[in-house]
Amino acid sequence: MVCLGNICRSPLAEGILKSKVDPDQVFVDSAGTGDWHIGQLPDPRSVKIAKEHGLDITDQRGRQFSRADFADYDLIYAMDNSNYKDILSLAGNEEDKNKVQLILNEVFPGDDLDVPDPYTGGESGFKRVYDMLDQATDKILEKLKS
Ligand code: 4NP
Repeated sequence: MVCLGNICRSPLAEGILKSKVDPDQVFVDSAGTGDWHIGQLPDPRSVKIAKEHGLDITDQRGRQFSRADFADYDLIYAMDNSNYKDILSLAGNEEDKNKVQLILNEVFPGDDLDVPDPYTGGESGFKRVYDMLDQATDKILEKLKS
């Protein structure tokens, strides 16, 4: 799960998907394309909305996406089109590129929609992001099971 800062959207995506999969079968992680929040806790507004849904995401710390992640992960979900482009720019080959998907294309295939960056907005943006990611991770779960 990859966004820009790895403090708002992708920590929620990681926490929500983790809560739906068997940890012995699926390893879920998140990262940001930027380096500003390395080592930091998720944004308090993400922590709060997660907690309201019974999820604790305070074990997470910000890290930056790197080229090495292509070797370690089978699926790489970008939160928005800008993240998608930044991730692809680090891909070494076609196999790497094929691992990268826009996460909302799981819900609305081919529409190339963004999970909006909620960083500069209020708490309602985080609620909206949570609901989008809850839907998207349900679809990912279906895919993993099929
Ligand atoms: P995220 O949100 O990509 O969902 O973690 C952001 C967090 C921080 C910044 C931008 C987006 N920032 O510019 O510091």
